[in-house]
Order: sequence, then C-alpha cells, then structure tokens
Amino acid sequence: MDREPKETSPGGFFGVSPYMIFPSAYGNFSIFLKFGNHHILYAKDGEAVTERHKAILYENGVEEVYIRTDDKPQFDDYVERNLSRILLDDNIPLPVRSRIFYSCAVNVLERALEAKLSLPLTSDRHRKLVKLVESSVSFLCRENVFKTLGSLMSHDRKVYTHSTNVFLYTLAMLETYSLPEEEKVHIGLGALLHDIGKSQIPAKILNKPGRLNAHEWEILKTHPVKGLALCSAVPLDQSTIHCILFHHEQCDGRGYPTGLTGANIPLPVKVVNVANRYDLATSPGPRDHPLTPFQGLTKMKEEMQEEIDMDVFRRLVMVLSGAGLVQP
Ligand SMILES: [Fe+2]
Repeated sequence: MDREPKETSPGGFFGVSPYMIFPSAYGNFSIFLKFGNHHILYAKDGEAVTERHKAILYENGVEEVYIRTDDKPQFDDYVERNLSRILLDDNIPLPVRSRIFYSCAVNVLERALEAKLSLPLTSDRHRKLVKLVESSVSFLCRENVFKTLGSLMSHDRKVYTHSTNVFLYTLAMLETYSLPEEEKVHIGLGALLHDIGKSQIPAKILNKPGRLNAHEWEILKTHPVKGLALCSAVPLDQSTIHCILFHHEQCDGRGYPTGLTGANIPLPVKVVNVANRYDLATSPGPRDHPLTPFQGLTKMKEEMQEEIDMDVFRRLVMVLSGAGLVQP
C-alpha cells in the first residue's frame, strides 16, 4: 500500500491529499500549490484553512497540495492530532481515508517502538516488528476496522494510546515464539482491538479518579463483550476474537467475563493479558501513578503470580531486558 505523503520532490516539497487539510485547524506549516515546476504559497504557516480555501481547491480539481520537507515533523503531528476527524468523515472517499490511516498509524507505531522498546531503527528486531506492524495495519485498512478505531480515538485518546502500546508489547513477545507470521498478525490485531469496547463505556467512568463504585464497575466489565459485538461485522480470526473477549480472564479463574481458568485460556490471550497489565502499571492512568518498568515488573511478579501466566511473564522480562529498560 502507498504511504501518504507520497514522495519528496527534488525541490524540497512533498504532496498530500487536500483531504488532509482540515478547515479551522491551525498547523505550523505552510501549504503550497504547484503550477508547472513552481510552488506557490496558498496558506501561510499558523493560518487556519477555511471552508472557502478548501472549496477553491475542489472547484479547481486540485488533487494534491504541497508541504515543505522541512515542515514534515509539524505536519505529522498535525495529522495525528486530527486523524479521528478524517476517519469518521464519510465525505472523504474510503480509499483515501484508508491510505491516510495507514501512513499515520505506521508512523505513530514506529515512533512508539523506539520510545517503548528502545530499539535502534537499524536493528533486525526493529525491522521485523515494523513489518508485522505494517501487515497488521494493512489488514485493518482492508477490513475497515479503522473507522471503529477512529471512534475510540475521538472518545478517549488514552485508550487508543494504551491499545497501541499493548499491540507493540504483544508483537515483541510473539517474536520469542515460533509462530507463522499470519498468526502473529491475528494476535497483534487482537491486542490492538482488545479494548475497542471501551468506546461504548461513558468517558466519566473511564476517566473517574479514585475507585469505581459497584455499579460503575459492572458497566466497565461489559467492554470485552461490547468489543466483540462491535467487531462482529468484520471477518476476524478466532485468535483475534479470543483476545478481545477474554483479555480480562485470569489463570486463577477470577477474571471476567466467563471465569476461564489457566489451562482453558488460549496462549494468545495470555500474551495480550500480560502486555495489558504491564502497560496499565507503567502508563499514567486516572487511578494510579505510573510505575517504572522495573517497579511494574516487580509488582506483577509479587502480586499477580496466581493471575497471569508466568512463562509469558518471563518472556516479557526477556524482551524488556533486551531493550535495555530493565536489568536482566
Ligand atoms: Fe480491557
């Protein structure tokens, strides 16, 4: 699949679809039009693009506008902030939304790979993981699940960030198993979509500081089933479905929604469960302060022995030690 922005011109510009320019949003970059070999300034840095600006582009059949290569970091940041608007805008043709989502998701995930797993861009492990990320995101584009991810992003951005973190930890742990590439993609998708049902849970419950009362807790616990219902129209693999539905099951049988015990919990679910708990422990949340990677792992080892699969946990430690985040 093509990435968007497509190419860097020799003159130091790259072309993007005008759909990526959002009326009334300010960006720290200038927008140019191309006439022959010349780039003409259309909207200045820091100026909001108006509906009128956009109408002129459409009336004149402009299919591409141009941004300076030097402004690419600011442009990427702007697209990321406004991505959920694109994904949910039914006026934008689906193939265009799909290309934008693909390029943006891969960019975001590549940056997170470096930040969360400290993998140098040139390492073999990094390259393998990026390939898995690309295959997974291509699948999401093909099946249009990205529209649902768009609603999750606009509903609660923290849940979306959490989902991408769990996705990356899951893929990194899967690299320690010899599984077919396709199976890794299915499990990775399960990790990326595991909390999709939270788009149906009121934000005031998701973001409530302090403890939830019994009624709120019951509502929160419906998110795995709601997630499965949301994805029911998409032909997902059984591993993906298991990860969405069972990611809160525990080896001691005290999880939800069904109370499965260790031997009956599929391996992909155990991997997503460990990745999920580690990210919840080490990321800022409404109810707890984030722990360091070392503190997070210690807490899991001391307090969750009965609940999580300890072989999977050891693989997480191995992955993080390899990344230099904790001492082996
Ligand atoms: Fe969850």
